[in-house]
Amino acid sequence: MRNYILEEQIEKDGFVDMEVDPSMDIFAEIDKLRKEKNAIILAHYYQEPDIQDIADYIGDSLGLAQKAAQTNADIIVFAGVHFMAETAKILNPTKKVLVPDMKAGCSLSDSCPPPLFQKFKEQHAGHTVVSYINCSAGIKALSDIICTSSNARAIIDSLPADEKIIFAPDKNLGAYINKVTGRNMVLWNGACMVHEIFSLEKIVKLKERHPKAKLIAHPECEDSILRIADFIGSTTAMLNYTMKDDCNEFIVATEAGILHKMIEGSPAKTFIAAPPDNSCACNECPHMKRNTLEKIYNTLKYELPELQMDEKLRIAARKPIDRMMDISKQAGLLG
Ligand code: 13P
Ligand code: SF4
Repeated sequence: MRNYILEEQIEKDGFVDMEVDPSMDIFAEIDKLRKEKNAIILAHYYQEPDIQDIADYIGDSLGLAQKAAQTNADIIVFAGVHFMAETAKILNPTKKVLVPDMKAGCSLSDSCPPPLFQKFKEQHAGHTVVSYINCSAGIKALSDIICTSSNARAIIDSLPADEKIIFAPDKNLGAYINKVTGRNMVLWNGACMVHEIFSLEKIVKLKERHPKAKLIAHPECEDSILRIADFIGSTTAMLNYTMKDDCNEFIVATEAGILHKMIEGSPAKTFIAAPPDNSCACNECPHMKRNTLEKIYNTLKYELPELQMDEKLRIAARKPIDRMMDISKQAGLLG
């Protein structure tokens, strides 16, 4: 039966705004609901530590897409942002995909609206379109292949050297891939608000104060930061690097949520979040941080908000994801 009150709340606020008893053990209650309903909670590393701790799986975009494709759960709760939940739905049309907060968007995805991108494509006829997974289903449907920060290089390397390519929507990741592959891809002018805000000046000063520390950076960062980085990779690659490398101190240039798993993985090492250009907490993604334990509890309890997708759009958006999965498998990037 439809619940019009909750639907109205979701329309207005993006989430089910029902009071949660502050005295209850919310971890135990989420766990109970998850078991009763055969649900799986997928979370990105940029979530609050409590959410990471309750999740069934935490990963980067490639790992999350892979997990979403493999799960036997009836319900997928996606503690991440909207485009990630869309990817889960594209891969699982018969499953219920729940989003704790529908307004958890992404500045990078928003920087590439499908109607404008369609025009851009028309201006570059004959180009293969490779899109970073941080884009809407509408952009995926206009793309030939999807990539993530884990497999972008392998995807581009799999294409013939003379292939003309449009890369969207992240200009920083695109420029980095151009640099390491020697390609000249046409770049859409989009960027992530979190990775663009790091201050080169402050990072250089930090490096002076911590001469033994290594700078590790996500490829969504600007070239000026990537140039001085000791390691560049996806969130999972950065985490693995900190666990395997001999260094005991790291300056981390990505969203600060990843520090939770880094500290857990290497408790004796020191992790310093790279400072942003101003005094606010801008190295936190405001979209990712819209998710809370209370919203996850309500989402499981009421099975709302549910992500819906037009079937024609879903089928069109699925093709480039399948190509990504195939190329990644061939490159040994998927299990
Ligand atoms: P990855 O976790 O795939 O590296 O992506 C980072 C990111 O910005 C997700 O929004
Ligand atoms: Fe989007 Fe950047 Fe937030 Fe990732 S960190 S969800 S790319 S705004």
